[in-house]
Amino acid sequence: ASLAAAGAAAVASVAGCASGPPTVRPPATPRPLAIPPLAPSTRDAAGRRVVELVAAPGTHEFLPGLATPTWGYGGLPFGGPTVRARRGEEVVLRVTNRLPETTTTHWHGATLPARADGGPHQPIPPGGTWEASWRLDQPAATLWYHPHPHGRTERHVHRGLCGLFLVDDDVPVDLPARYGVDDVPLVLTDRSFTPDGAFDEQHRNAVGLLGDTVLVNSTVAPYLDVTTTRVRLRVLNASPARSYRVVLDDETPLTLVGTDGGLLPAPRVVDGVVLTPGERAEVVVDLVPGRRRVLRSVSHDLGAVNGVTRAAGAHDSFDLLELRPAPRLEPSPPLPARLSREAPLAEAAAARTRRFTLSHDRINGLAMDMTRVDEVVPVAATEIWEFTNRHTLPHNMHVHDARMQVLERGVPAAERPWKDTVAVPPARTVRALVRVGPHADPEVPYMLHCHLLRHEDDGMMLQFLVVAPGQRPATTITGAHDD
Ligand code: C2O
Ligand code: CU
Repeated sequence: ASLAAAGAAAVASVAGCASGPPTVRPPATPRPLAIPPLAPSTRDAAGRRVVELVAAPGTHEFLPGLATPTWGYGGLPFGGPTVRARRGEEVVLRVTNRLPETTTTHWHGATLPARADGGPHQPIPPGGTWEASWRLDQPAATLWYHPHPHGRTERHVHRGLCGLFLVDDDVPVDLPARYGVDDVPLVLTDRSFTPDGAFDEQHRNAVGLLGDTVLVNSTVAPYLDVTTTRVRLRVLNASPARSYRVVLDDETPLTLVGTDGGLLPAPRVVDGVVLTPGERAEVVVDLVPGRRRVLRSVSHDLGAVNGVTRAAGAHDSFDLLELRPAPRLEPSPPLPARLSREAPLAEAAAARTRRFTLSHDRINGLAMDMTRVDEVVPVAATEIWEFTNRHTLPHNMHVHDARMQVLERGVPAAERPWKDTVAVPPARTVRALVRVGPHADPEVPYMLHCHLLRHEDDGMMLQFLVVAPGQRPATTITGAHDD
């Protein structure tokens, strides 16, 4: 109980924006971690898995006695149900917009046709329904979904719209897999509240909205009752701007088993995992009967200078989740020595290098233009994309439709994690092997952008077309909505 109280106190002490208003602090009372329900699905006549999601306003009590107006998917006031589907299935994801303004729903991390991507070119007007369908064909991974309307993504996500999208495959891997029992989603977000309980949308800093209260799924100061000797935690950083360094409170290591794009080739013992917005990590934690452990975020170095890391919350320390093992635990299977069987991308196979220079909120000096085609990439190409950050702020780059492996000195090809979002610290260059998917469309682009959502909204986004041999790419994107 003392750990729990200390945990809650630590949550309460997260440093917020220095110029912010007085904020409501979270309660000292830990609450059970809310687990997002699995999204119900049906089979249509063609055997496709159909998931219906409604985006709508709601109200949720994050802090005792305070009703917070929110937006959520699937009947949840905040967040969204976990979509789950299997590799090889045709999925139909139907989203109805009951919000007062146009939104979109992007399937972050999915390899999919551009028309199904849910980026800024697939708007869903109020009252409208949009349908994305494709054959899911990528390895098991923890993906997610969130709005992507150009210029308004931060606000839509901040109001609560985001959910997990789990892809399963047929590769037998003996990891904990009982959803909500020993395979537990942790969606990390942060918010500040105004005195009347609303989310504070006013106090931005150089990287966006930074809250003083951390929500895990939708819970402030959560704990989880554990019944097995191991738990797999699927951690998503769904914050607009805050980065986390996830560790265990007793400084014992974690076992990293997966990243954005799927499982690692083999489990990797790590001291902690840094997650910038949009990134995911799957970690396995070992537990001893009755001994509580706390998952915590601690101060870390995003490489920023002049105190700018503070803007991304990188210097704050606070508790994320208390794990409360039962006095008797069901033994979990030993960790498998091998996880993913997927061959790494070969650097020698990279057809070319594309270079992107990042400044304050521009890529290659350009602001996002919904009509401009910035890059044209051959379908299923493997290329090197090189991101050079010339600014004092950290950025992180997300490429739609792509699975990436960062080229790091000292990391053998066979050990590179699969990514779709990569941190690019100030004054650094990150080179990644990028493989785009097998879907060509000469008219509808995918996005490449900073996942600090304020930067994205401010124009730190470019568009690329993926074309098949012989296809003539559009020179301008027509019918672009920029409302
Ligand atoms: Cu998670 Cu283009 O977004
Ligand atoms: Cu940025």
